[in-house]
Amino acid sequence: AKDGYKLWLQYDFIENESLRKEYQSHIKRLIPFGDSETINIGLNELERGLSGMLGEVYLSKVNKSNINDYVLVLGSKASLSHDISSLLEKEFNTINEEGFIIKSITLKGKKQIVISGKTDVGVLYGVFNFLRLIQTNKSIKNLSIVDAPKLKVRVLNHWDNLDRTVERGYSGASIWDWHRLPDYIDQRYIDYARANASIGINGTVLNNVNANALILTPQYLEKVKALANIFRPYGIKVYLTARFSAPIEIGGLKTADPLDAGVINWWKDKTAEIYKSIPDFGGFLVKANSEGQPGPQNYDRNHVDGANMMAEAVAPFGGIVMWRAFVYSEHDANDRAKQAYTEFVPYDGQFKDNVLIQVKNGAIDFQPREPFHPMFGAMPKTPLMMEFQITQEYLGCSTHSVFLPTMYKEVLDADTYRKGKASTVAKVIDGTLDNKKLTGMAGVSNIGADRNWTGNVFLQANWYGFGRLAWNPYLTSENIADEWIKSTFSNANDFVQPVKEFMLASLEATVNYMTPLGLHHIMATGHHYGPGPWVSNLSRPEWNPVYYHKADAQGIGFDRSTSGSNAVEQYAPEVAKMFNDLNTCPEEFLLWFHHVAWDYKLKNGKTLWDGMALKYQEGVNQVEAMLKTWNAMKPYVDFQRYNEVKMLLNIQYKEAKWWRDACLLYFQQYSKKTLPKGVEAPT
Ligand code: GCU
Repeated sequence: AKDGYKLWLQYDFIENESLRKEYQSHIKRLIPFGDSETINIGLNELERGLSGMLGEVYLSKVNKSNINDYVLVLGSKASLSHDISSLLEKEFNTINEEGFIIKSITLKGKKQIVISGKTDVGVLYGVFNFLRLIQTNKSIKNLSIVDAPKLKVRVLNHWDNLDRTVERGYSGASIWDWHRLPDYIDQRYIDYARANASIGINGTVLNNVNANALILTPQYLEKVKALANIFRPYGIKVYLTARFSAPIEIGGLKTADPLDAGVINWWKDKTAEIYKSIPDFGGFLVKANSEGQPGPQNYDRNHVDGANMMAEAVAPFGGIVMWRAFVYSEHDANDRAKQAYTEFVPYDGQFKDNVLIQVKNGAIDFQPREPFHPMFGAMPKTPLMMEFQITQEYLGCSTHSVFLPTMYKEVLDADTYRKGKASTVAKVIDGTLDNKKLTGMAGVSNIGADRNWTGNVFLQANWYGFGRLAWNPYLTSENIADEWIKSTFSNANDFVQPVKEFMLASLEATVNYMTPLGLHHIMATGHHYGPGPWVSNLSRPEWNPVYYHKADAQGIGFDRSTSGSNAVEQYAPEVAKMFNDLNTCPEEFLLWFHHVAWDYKLKNGKTLWDGMALKYQEGVNQVEAMLKTWNAMKPYVDFQRYNEVKMLLNIQYKEAKWWRDACLLYFQQYSKKTLPKGVEAPT
């Protein structure tokens, strides 16, 4: 049975004979140039993919001088024969170290397809892209594809603990089997690396941001080294979350003060020790002075002191520090949304060159929909990297089927106006807006030891989509969905179209039944799974849902306008003005920025109360439609994957109603209004 383990690398046999023959006629032999581990991985992948899809084993590796028609040639610029590489001169000039070229050429009258790049990893990316062409049934007749990643650091963040639990993980235990590493190499590590390489992910942070310092002890570093050795030929670097107080906890020092000479030396020595066994170690991720984690502020120092101290330790080895901006504290509870900006923006220009400030997509915390984080564009002298959550902490965990690239794109396409119109978030993070060299995107992983990796086959699309957008933030979510559906399930048009529609509608559905019109953080306490807008008794004010929706007899919503917390002021004037004015604030963010009367008239003429109730109902209806669509897809999907998705959609449908009923009944106590026509009465 198909259990989803093979992700989007299914390489299903192409049943359509003429199409298959067409592909076969273009790929008769393979000639590899160079025999590094990476090139061999590429060859194996081609063999696996082509024999799966075309039903033949193609790896008749022929002699390099044996120029024939329809040879697939593979190799980096330096290893290709000169007559071939000279034909690609123009293309080589346009790509970076990780880019690739797939090109149909004619050499001595013979037709060839060349897959190349400046490095072997570039070639490997080319291989996966070539296979994707066939997986998605594209023509390979006259190929001329040149592509290169737009961001440098494309990393997964695993919130994995050393005891194999995963913080906010909903897909089983951690895939890192610390107990049996370094000697036991789980096949999963290799398949994980293949999957990541296939979408261009080039880094992985192995451990939770709420870190255990033990990961930095020799016992664990030996295990980390084993993983790094496996990932290296796939172009994937290993990074670790460093606990700021590690010098005390595992170093025996009395302090972790970043300006203390002993502490500085401790980090230098620790870093040198790591690079000795992992020469291409990527660097450190740090969560400091956030949610109780230790940091420089414990010693009256600041983020710059902390980040730069660690940056200096890794700099001689080419490493980087990803310093997180997810900070908030109960001492400034007036508006949590303002805290990161307030704390970080004054430090613009003070961080070392090898520091990236890692900023969540929005200012609160991975809500179903948030306006873009005001820090994007506001620190022109500092490279900011994006942090998206792939795991669905506030989005129905691994149970609800939500296609997240839609949300990632909303944020990437948002206009910061920091340098006039079209200063999008994508341009901030790809470095083009402020001319930054160090760029990156992190995705908090949804991967676990479940057979299908992500607990729900559909959510594999979010891992896939994250990787594709980290490679190129300008891709569309439509295209990503299309590629993923075809490589994971089927190219049949009657399958692809409806499923794509369902995926593209899924985020809106979820926003509608959870947090319509800009509502946020009204999930139940702790696990954040179901509704909990009534919660008001938690010790910190900004942990309570009532802090965010502020429903009362007059209305509902958080006033962040100039008359309220004035969070709007953290945006560029054009954006601030738009959000600040009730009439121009997009309705999807209405209650994010305004406390609005229950009788307020929405753009569709309905009152806020009626409109909100109808949104909740719409969310339920949309899930019902998704379920119907999926039920009709049975003929196209193997039973196991079909049935798993179906069962999950059934749960989602039930829970969409739960969200609707719970929220409307609760808010109704304040609005004192009846439900409009069209909204089902709570069951
Ligand atoms: C959220 C999440 C925590 C996580 C934190 C972070 O608050 O609930 O589990 O540690 O984000 O991103 O640091």
